[in-house]
Amino acid sequence: MFGTPDRSHPVRTDPTAHGRRQGPRVAPAVRARARALAGRLITRRIQRKGIDLSAMTFIPERSKVPLQRTGTDPVPKLAQLRATDPVHRLRFPFDFRVYLVTGHEQVRAVLADRTNYSNDIRHLLPGTGPGTGEDVGGLGFTDPPVHTRLRKIVTPEFTMRRLARLEPMIERIVAEQLDELAAAGPTADLARLLSFPVPFQTICALLGLDLDDRQAFARLGVQRFDATGGAAGAFGAVSEQRAFLFDAVARQRKEPGPGLIGQIIRDEGDLISDLDLAGLADGVFTGGYETTAGMISLSTMVLLRDPAHAELVRNGTRADVDRVVEELLRYLSVVQLAFPRFVKHDMELAGQPLRAGDVVLASLSGANRDPATAGADPDAFDPARVPTSGHLAFGHGIHRCIGAELARMELRIVLPALLRRFPDLALAVPAEQLAFRPLSFVYGLDELPVRLRAADAAA
Ligand code: HEM
Repeated sequence: MFGTPDRSHPVRTDPTAHGRRQGPRVAPAVRARARALAGRLITRRIQRKGIDLSAMTFIPERSKVPLQRTGTDPVPKLAQLRATDPVHRLRFPFDFRVYLVTGHEQVRAVLADRTNYSNDIRHLLPGTGPGTGEDVGGLGFTDPPVHTRLRKIVTPEFTMRRLARLEPMIERIVAEQLDELAAAGPTADLARLLSFPVPFQTICALLGLDLDDRQAFARLGVQRFDATGGAAGAFGAVSEQRAFLFDAVARQRKEPGPGLIGQIIRDEGDLISDLDLAGLADGVFTGGYETTAGMISLSTMVLLRDPAHAELVRNGTRADVDRVVEELLRYLSVVQLAFPRFVKHDMELAGQPLRAGDVVLASLSGANRDPATAGADPDAFDPARVPTSGHLAFGHGIHRCIGAELARMELRIVLPALLRRFPDLALAVPAEQLAFRPLSFVYGLDELPVRLRAADAAA
C-alpha cells in the first residue's frame, strides 16, 4: 500500500537502453568543440545579463551536500567539511561563487551580521511578473528598512501571549485529525492525515485563508522547497502560490476577513501595497506548514525508535516535553539552510576571502551537529543533552523564524496527543523504506505509514 519510490534511481525516459540517443556518429573532437562553444556563449550571456536562478534546472552533484541525508542524519561529508573547511567553496558552473558555512560559530556569526550581508535576492531573479525579482517579496529575501517595516506589522501576532489564544483551536484540529487517523486504520499515512493538516489548517485560520484545495497546496508546499530541479521548480511553485495569495489579498481589500490579512488591511490601509501584503502573507503561509509538517512526521519516527523517548512525551511533565521538542528541533534541523546571504563588499570570513556578490549558505543542520556547541555525541538524539549554545533550527538574528513559538506550540500539543491516543503506535514499514525527501531545503517525509494498534500487528 505504501510503496516507497526509489528516488536514487530515476526512471529513464531515454529512447535507447543505454540512455544515449542514436543517430549519426559525431567525432569526439567535434563534440568537445561544440560543447566549449556552447559553454562560452552561455558564460557570455550570464556575464551580460547575470545569473537567473529561476532558470537553474540542476544543482551540480558535488554541491548537493548540505541537502543530502541518510535517514535523519546529514551525510558524513558535512561533518568532514565542518572539521576541515568550515567556509567551503561549492562548485557551480560559470564562476557562480557560493560558499557553504557549516560550523556553529561561523553560521551564527553570518546570521547575526547585517553589515556585511544582504538577503536581497532580486539581482538573481531578473525579469518581471510573478516569481521574479520584481515580485519575490516576503521577509526572508528583504533587507532593512523594508524588512524592519514589514516584520513590525506581523510581529505582534506571533508573541506568546497572542498565540495562546490559538491553543484551543490547535487542540481541536489535532483531535479531529486523530479521529481521521483512527478511522483510516489499522494502518494509515500519518504524513497525510496528521502532519500536514495540523499546521496547514492552523496557518490558514491565522491568516484568514479559506482553502478548499488542500491537495494543491500540499503539492506546492513540497515543490517550493524541492531542489531536484535546481531552483527552477521552486520558483515555479512560488509564482503559482503567490498568484493565489494576490487573489486573496485583492478579495480581502474589498471585504477584510477575520484573520491576519484582514487585520493588516484594517490597520494599515493604503500604507501597505498589495505586492508587499501578498509577499508577507506568502512568507508566513509557506513558512507555516511545510516546515512544521516535516517536524511532526520526522519527530514521530524518531520517538518511535526508543520506547523510553515515546514514554517521556506520552506521560512526561510539560518541562520533559519542552526538552524533547528542543532536542528534536536541533537533531532534525528540518530547515537545512538559512536564506542565502549575499556578500556586500570584499571581506574575510574565518580566514576565507569573500568577494562582493558571493553567496553564503549557512548550513543549520551542520551547525546544530557541531560538537563544539551541541555537547557530547551530537549525532545522537538525546533529550537530556546540555548544549553550550542554543540550537539554530530557527535561524538567528533579524531573520530568525517569526513562527518559532507557533511551531513549538503545535509540536508540544500534537506529539503527546498522538502518543496518548495510540499508545502502541509503530511504523508499518521498516525505517529504511520510508520516503525521505531526496533533495529539499526543508527535510521531511512524503509518507509515514504507521500501524495504530498492536492487535493489528499480525493482520
Ligand atoms: C519547526 C518549524 C519551523 C522551522 C524549523 C523554521 C525555521 C526557519 C528558519 C531557519 C528561518 C530562516 C532564518 C534565517 O535565514 O535567518 C525561518 C524564517 C521564517 N519563518 Fe520559520 N520555521 C518553522 C515554522 C514556521 C512557522 C509556523 C511560520 C509561520 C507562522 C514560519 C514563518 C517564517 C517566516 C515568515 C520567516 C522569515 C522571517 C524573516 O525573514 O524575518 N516559520 N524559519
